[in-house]
Amino acid sequence: MNKNLIPENYNSQNLVNMWRDYIDWDKRRIGEENFLVNQLRKYNVKKVFDAALGDGCDSIYLIKQGFDVISNEIDKIFLNKALEHAKSENIELKTTSLDWRELDKELLEKSFDAVLCLGNSLTYLFTEKNQIDVLNQFRRILRNKSIFIIDERNYQYILDNRKEILKGNFRYSGRYIYCGKKVHNYPVEISDQKVKFEIVDKRTGKKDHFIVYPFKRGEMKNLLSKASFKSVEQFSDFKSGEDINADFYQYVCVK
Ligand SMILES: C[S@@+](CC[C@H](N)C(=O)[O-])C[C@H]1O[C@@H](n2cnc3c(N)ncnc32)[C@H](O)[C@@H]1O
Repeated sequence: MNKNLIPENYNSQNLVNMWRDYIDWDKRRIGEENFLVNQLRKYNVKKVFDAALGDGCDSIYLIKQGFDVISNEIDKIFLNKALEHAKSENIELKTTSLDWRELDKELLEKSFDAVLCLGNSLTYLFTEKNQIDVLNQFRRILRNKSIFIIDERNYQYILDNRKEILKGNFRYSGRYIYCGKKVHNYPVEISDQKVKFEIVDKRTGKKDHFIVYPFKRGEMKNLLSKASFKSVEQFSDFKSGEDINADFYQYVCVK
């Protein structure tokens, strides 16, 4: 494999083992209040491309809800974890293992009714060129009038409050997306170019970290419009509109 195409962030087995407790699968569902399924049904979606399978949380849920899901995971450690979770629930995953920047090598144009890039995943790409290239790749595999759903953390809050946060005062409701109480995370380094998060299992003291690109306020919307989506609707912690105090933002984009 071309080394340049491996994601900037390698996930360790240690990190992946913590992921389910970091999400808290049940609480993720409570926090989103059927947002995902409601959006997919609103647009008559049948075939879904889950671009960032992770440990399987959303793909397994959507398959159980009756959607035809292709789950993509480039990271073998995450992929194996998701397959293990699916097996224990008697669910069969249909998987690909593609770098988002190269979807066109294997996936046909206009072949999905929805593409999902969830769990704050685009943040793993650091340059605007890569981010836009990938959004164009996602858009390419969508049928006309079908939808792309992406989310992001409220990084502007982190950038604006970096001093306080680094002193240990990180405001985070824990009700959305990453809801675990046993495993939690917080920024330990903050700059306009990157944020390093430490992730800790409170029971064992085991730690890991990941480094991500902090989108500024308005930046994601700007990228989505550069990628030529016809319409983009913003949600804040799953409620319509922009709330500067939200933990996460969601965008439903129509091709
Ligand atoms: C923060 S995890 C989110 C996983 C899952 N969606 C969730 O909600 O827990 C980020 C995901 O993005 C994937 N990823 C990062 N860069 C990628 C790339 N260039 N191509 C494909 N997948 C990538 C990682 O492998 C990982 O699955």
